This record gives sequence, C-alpha cells and structure tokens, in this order.
Amino acid sequence: MKINLKINGISKILEVEPGEFLLDVLRRNNYLSVRRGCDNSSCGVCTVLFDNKPVPSCSLLAVKANNHEITTVEGIQEEANKLAKCFGEYGADQCGFCNPSMALTVYALKQENKNATDEEIKEYLVGNLCRCTGYVSQHKAIKKYLGEKNESS
Ligand code: FES
Ligand code: FES
Repeated sequence: MKINLKINGISKILEVEPGEFLLDVLRRNNYLSVRRGCDNSSCGVCTVLFDNKPVPSCSLLAVKANNHEITTVEGIQEEANKLAKCFGEYGADQCGFCNPSMALTVYALKQENKNATDEEIKEYLVGNLCRCTGYVSQHKAIKKYLGEKNESS
C-alpha cells in the first residue's frame, strides 16, 4: 500500500507493508540518520518528530504516518548545528550515535517550553538513552542551547 506524507517539508508517496514500522520505511528510503537501537521503544535513538512531537519510529506503524508530517534531523539542520556547538563546548559530543534523536527531542522541547527547568529537561529527555556521556555534560549543553534561544527571542 502507499502512504502520503511530508518528510522534512517535502511531500512523499511511499510504499509500505501493512504491519511495517516507520523506522524500517525511513531507513529503506535512505533516511539513515534515524538510527536503529533497541527496536522496542526503550532507547529513543529512532526518534523522529511526528507533527512536531518526538516519537520512537520503531513503534509507530508506518500507515499511521499517512497524511502527517515527519521530521528527521536533516529537517532541523540549523538548530542541530547550534546544539552541536553547545555539545562541543561542554565535551558532550562522543560517539554521536544518539545525536540525531537528541537534537530532535531537544528542538521539540525548545518549541514547547523554552524556559524548561532542570527537572523538566530531565523529564522530557527521559526516553533518550546515551551510552557514552553520563548525561551531565549533555544537560549543561542543552541548558546553554535553550538559553541562547531565550536571549534571541
Ligand atoms: S530503536 Fe526505537 S526506541 Fe530504541
Ligand atoms: S554519544 Fe554515544 S550514545 Fe550518546
């Protein structure tokens, strides 16, 4: 079957199987920044924005994306670069496997709550696992990124 959707603002018609998950469809169509990790909604590395809300694409049936908007990190490149700069400053950039999903989730947080407290940041990112950083440096970098937005808005 075919689904109509927008990916990073571009209209697409994609062939999907009835029980297929969005992660598999995206990767088959070369959206390889959407990573495969646990494949059971636990690690967050497959996160995409579904109508601007972060969701794990490994547990979203592709047919549910019909007539919706999907954003991968390529669709928020400018913001992802700003966050990457903050990550670099705080030494939060290690293997990079979690970076695309982290960038999408932090970007969504910025849209929803640019004045997020420490606790709110932690709560929002709870489904995004990082095997490398221990989260402290990432947390500092995210605060800086959110603060930069506050200064410019
Ligand atoms: S691969 Fe989807 S949450 Fe881990
Ligand atoms: S930087 Fe390696 S998993 Fe996050």
